[in-house]
Amino acid sequence: VPSLIVAPSILAADFAHLADAARAVEGAADWLHVDVMDNHFVPNLTIGLPVVQSLRKTTTLPFDCHLMIENPDRWAIGYAEAGAYNVTFHAEAAADPVRLANDLRAAGSRAGLAIDRDTPVDKYLDLLPHLDTVLIMTIKAGFGGQAFLPEMLDKVRQVRRAVAASGLEIRVEVDGGIADDTIAQAAEAGADAFVAGTAVYGADDPAEAVRRLRRLASG
Ligand code: DX5
Ligand code: ZN
Repeated sequence: VPSLIVAPSILAADFAHLADAARAVEGAADWLHVDVMDNHFVPNLTIGLPVVQSLRKTTTLPFDCHLMIENPDRWAIGYAEAGAYNVTFHAEAAADPVRLANDLRAAGSRAGLAIDRDTPVDKYLDLLPHLDTVLIMTIKAGFGGQAFLPEMLDKVRQVRRAVAASGLEIRVEVDGGIADDTIAQAAEAGADAFVAGTAVYGADDPAEAVRRLRRLASG
């Protein structure tokens, strides 16, 4: 198990060439981050289950599916069944997060809980025993290319402390504005999984961008 996870987000890739985008970071990245948006939970529409099912066949990279959708209780299991390594749903959207996390694990996936910009994390810390990943948004969910919000790092510290105290093996993931100039602060705050869209797919050499981010996160 790598100590740090770098997860390129294909949201910043060319949607007509997703398989190429996945292959471009194979061997460098740990997970491939797939942003699913439904134009209801967030005001943007991306890709859904059929695309994930097709893309799953094109790469060996584990999929980190980030569901920015309403009613994840209804939809999340499909992503686990499609072969996602980790399925993360939003705390703000789930009707029964404990049950959904348990169901995801039963379906063979890791379970992740995402916390959007305006959501405090306190009341979700009781859920840690049911989770494999806590994703702290370091932007407002919905669009790539936004500026990193350093004030979100307090939530990262809070989750890292709770995870350490619990003794559980839980990834603390950050998503949004992660780039060469921000990744070290996120790592120092306690993140150990890093999503990067623009910083990877906006680069001339995405694999090299992933390797550089890993070095910068490692300190
Ligand atoms: C936005 C998505 C992010 C997005 C990050 O809601 O969850 O995964 O791809 O893009 P960057 O790295 O450009 O901020
Ligand atoms: Zn994401």
